[in-house]
Amino acid sequence: MTDLIAPATTAGALLAPVLEPVAMAGLRLSTRFVMAPMTRSQSPGGVPTPAVAGYYRRRAEHGVGLIITEGVLVDHPSAGHEDAVPRMTPGPAEDGWRHVVDEVHSVGGRIAAQLWHLGSLREPVDGLAAWSPSAVPEPGRPAGHAMSLTDADTILTAYADAARVAARAGFDAIEIHAAHGYLLDEFLWPRTNRRTDRYGGSTAGRARFPAEVVRAVRAAVPADMPLIVRFSQFKERDFDARIADSPAELATILEAFTDAGATVLHASQRRFWQPVFPGSPLNLAGWAKQITGLPAITVGGVGLTRDFLEPGRANSLTGLVQRLAAGEFDLVALGRILLGNPDWVTLAAEDRIDGIEDYRKEHEHTFA
Ligand SMILES: Cc1cc2nc3c(=O)[nH]c(=O)nc-3n(C[C@H](O)[C@H](O)[C@H](O)COP(=O)(O)O)c2cc1C
Repeated sequence: MTDLIAPATTAGALLAPVLEPVAMAGLRLSTRFVMAPMTRSQSPGGVPTPAVAGYYRRRAEHGVGLIITEGVLVDHPSAGHEDAVPRMTPGPAEDGWRHVVDEVHSVGGRIAAQLWHLGSLREPVDGLAAWSPSAVPEPGRPAGHAMSLTDADTILTAYADAARVAARAGFDAIEIHAAHGYLLDEFLWPRTNRRTDRYGGSTAGRARFPAEVVRAVRAAVPADMPLIVRFSQFKERDFDARIADSPAELATILEAFTDAGATVLHASQRRFWQPVFPGSPLNLAGWAKQITGLPAITVGGVGLTRDFLEPGRANSLTGLVQRLAAGEFDLVALGRILLGNPDWVTLAAEDRIDGIEDYRKEHEHTFA
């Protein structure tokens, strides 16, 4: 006999703690699995179609407790350029979203709208230069437009308006996209924020505009609506970038979000198993929860291949589940694996591993 707990040998047993219902900032979820936001460009004219509703419904009916939509543009020409990226605007887009929400609710799912402004990553089409905090020149890209204080107020209003539309359409929660090098993250990142006014300078100054967006959205939606902020160290154009070099800097940023009304933090990493600061095994979600006490979502490489049951691997879910069970973070987001496997959670929960397809790049170009 041994007093060691035997490692879980089946996926269902391993994932049991993630498959439990949970209350997230007051919102009841059927499992702790979250669908990570993924841009799909399937909404011509910015209006989500019935196919978009079916796409999200399928993930919700297969055990994803919370869907987070793809990035949805706030209503300002600087927010984004692509016609088929959805928008959060009154009229047809709002009606399209209401249908998406109703479909997800009809199978017991919950859904958050991710609000997005591309910042300097917007292509300079339609005669409009890309808006960003400081218009820092990027190799190979035309000069952008450094936002004035009036521009900042305009964008704050655009976020609040979009949040109001989302609440009216029936969304259960809002997620503010402040990650990956888009507009709000450009304020957080020293390389792209060279401002000397109230929105720049110190870490606190760099966090001020994103926090004001959080506050504006908080004021625009019902007081009990969960408000998630997604943030990251890495940028799409620089995987080694950082917004915080120390836990103290991270605390300055996250406490600004919390004071402004954020109730959930979504800590985006490319690989969930990687620690963030020397001397601690905590990942970014772990730090977010430790600093703020708010519920935290982890993400990054979860379940991408069927070898996730093997305990010795970096991407093994054994360690992830133990850390969740120990309270390091609360929810687990799945991204790319859900593109090719809308039913991944059901298949894993029922130990039908042979029915799962490993993630392949071409899944990103499918829409089913
Ligand atoms: C095709 C695709 C589109 C994405 N679009 C978004 C997006 O709109 N907003 C966002 O915050 N992250 C976006 N991401 C990042 C994902 O949400 C997620 O963090 C990333 O894929 C890592 O998780 P995974 O390893 O489980 O896929 C996207 C990722 C992919 C692959």
